[in-house]
Amino acid sequence: MCGIFGYIGNDNAICRVISGLEKLEYRGYDSAGLAYVKQGEIKTIKSIGKVENLKISSCAISSKISIAHTRWATHGSATEKNCHPHTSENFAIVHNGIIENFEDLKRKLNYEFYSETDTEVVAKLLEEKYRECRKKFKVEDAVLHTIKETQDCLKGSWAIALICKLDPKKIYVFKNKSPIVVGIGKNESCVSSDINAIESDEFNFYNLEDGNIAVVKQDDVKFYDKNLNPAKLERIRQVQNKYFEDENFSHKMIKEINEIPFSIHQTAKIFDSDEFITLSKRFKKFKEITIIGCGTAYHAGLYGKYILEKYVGKKVDVVLASEYRYKTKIKSENELVIAISQSGETADTLAGVILAKESGATTVAITNVSSSSITRECNFTLLTNAGPERAVAATKSYVCQIYVLYLLACKIINKTPQRDLDRITEKFLKAFNGRFFEKYYSKQKFFFIGRLCDSSTAFEGALKLKEIAYVHSEGYPAGELKHGTLSLVDEKSLVVAILTQNIIKEKTLNAVHEVLARGADVILITQFHDIDFSGDIITLPNVCQEIAPLVSVIPLQLFSYHYAIAKGLNPDMPRHLAKSVTVE
Ligand code: M6R
Repeated sequence: MCGIFGYIGNDNAICRVISGLEKLEYRGYDSAGLAYVKQGEIKTIKSIGKVENLKISSCAISSKISIAHTRWATHGSATEKNCHPHTSENFAIVHNGIIENFEDLKRKLNYEFYSETDTEVVAKLLEEKYRECRKKFKVEDAVLHTIKETQDCLKGSWAIALICKLDPKKIYVFKNKSPIVVGIGKNESCVSSDINAIESDEFNFYNLEDGNIAVVKQDDVKFYDKNLNPAKLERIRQVQNKYFEDENFSHKMIKEINEIPFSIHQTAKIFDSDEFITLSKRFKKFKEITIIGCGTAYHAGLYGKYILEKYVGKKVDVVLASEYRYKTKIKSENELVIAISQSGETADTLAGVILAKESGATTVAITNVSSSSITRECNFTLLTNAGPERAVAATKSYVCQIYVLYLLACKIINKTPQRDLDRITEKFLKAFNGRFFEKYYSKQKFFFIGRLCDSSTAFEGALKLKEIAYVHSEGYPAGELKHGTLSLVDEKSLVVAILTQNIIKEKTLNAVHEVLARGADVILITQFHDIDFSGDIITLPNVCQEIAPLVSVIPLQLFSYHYAIAKGLNPDMPRHLAKSVTVE
């Protein structure tokens, strides 16, 4: 949700921030802007849409300092006025997060506002505070006190980078609940929402903690705590998580689906890692297990419930992180909370982890980003190792989340897991015709059904179709159809039935017959060969049924991708969405 990038140094800052924003575009892409200082004045350039547009309008400019932003709109639509940076007389700021009390603050401030954003209120509040502070302090101290007093008034989440026209050789950064990293190199420094957007091995990196303020210069950085006492931050190791483009694929999403076999191969290594062994040994002592996550990660959690209950015999709850964080928290002894998050930055999941820790639970992150906020908060991290995922749709990361949960369950009960899933998925991807679903594109209603762990695949299939192809679809546990939803099913419907579990074979087939009787077309996705069904079948490779959801989701991911392409949509950047949801 919004990407921030700032640069100060000997290079042209404009080129550097544009290149940074290009790597942060997965966080939001409805508008982009930058600010720089020229002859003592703050200048801004803003444009609607992708960073590419900003690049075109700013390519002739040169500066030694700049802050920039790619936006996912929260307050106010995607217009130039609402685009960051937001300014006041002395400041330009870029912000990732939400200021929850911005309306209150706005009412109290005697300024004219040009935008509908919460961020502009911060820019004006800074100005207000600065008027007093500059009477008492020299410039840097005045800005620091201004930030302190401003932060004290804010509620919500923010990572903010600012430049001040009277102090044009520094970028000031402060944060609460939204991530921001500072990188210091030789004669150049960067600030960024994501460490991987800073391309240099020669930088020293620091993650700001909540309340920290950083004063970033070309060759140096100073950190302060929220009371302006000097703070010492630990240097962090740069985690090389480079994203490699591949010209063989027209979109990131299809490239990432095709990376599934390699991601599985990489993720398998976790099985013998120390952290995995330690956690699996301690697992038996936990009396309560809760899995939290959002969207696709939540669906992986549903699979986690299935596999842990089946293999380990422990009761597992799965809760949407956005609900979990506001639930009445009942203190419980020996609780384990597993937070699943590809990005490791999802605000609701992060808040859930913090709540779980406060109530004494042990926390585990299943994430794809080792340097993420959720990783830092959790007691254990099980890294999915899917490699960077940039398309908004979670595909290879979902498969790896499922795989980690399966491996964990196997480890706890000392079972040898199926190891050849990389090879099997590779073969399946080569053989499966992604355009299989084409003849059903004209249908008006899409249902995905399944039981047990197949129902989580059904939810995921429906989410993908909504998210990428903008098609209304429903995921439904097959047994539930007749309790209401069946009334929607008719000849305009396509029902995709997923069937990988032996014990509910007949039951899911009953549901298939019920929808066929109502005129729907049905596609059956199964690894069973002995099924008497005359409609379209996608035959899955023969894998151990407990890990079949890892394979059965692949045709559904391809369905949404090809449908989006057929509709002329960009599957990598679906409207209204962003890859990393760092706001509530
Ligand atoms: O980074 P996270 O796994 O925490 O993200 C959670 C959801 O926002 C995410 O899975 C979302 O549902 C995907 N875009 C779905 O493809």
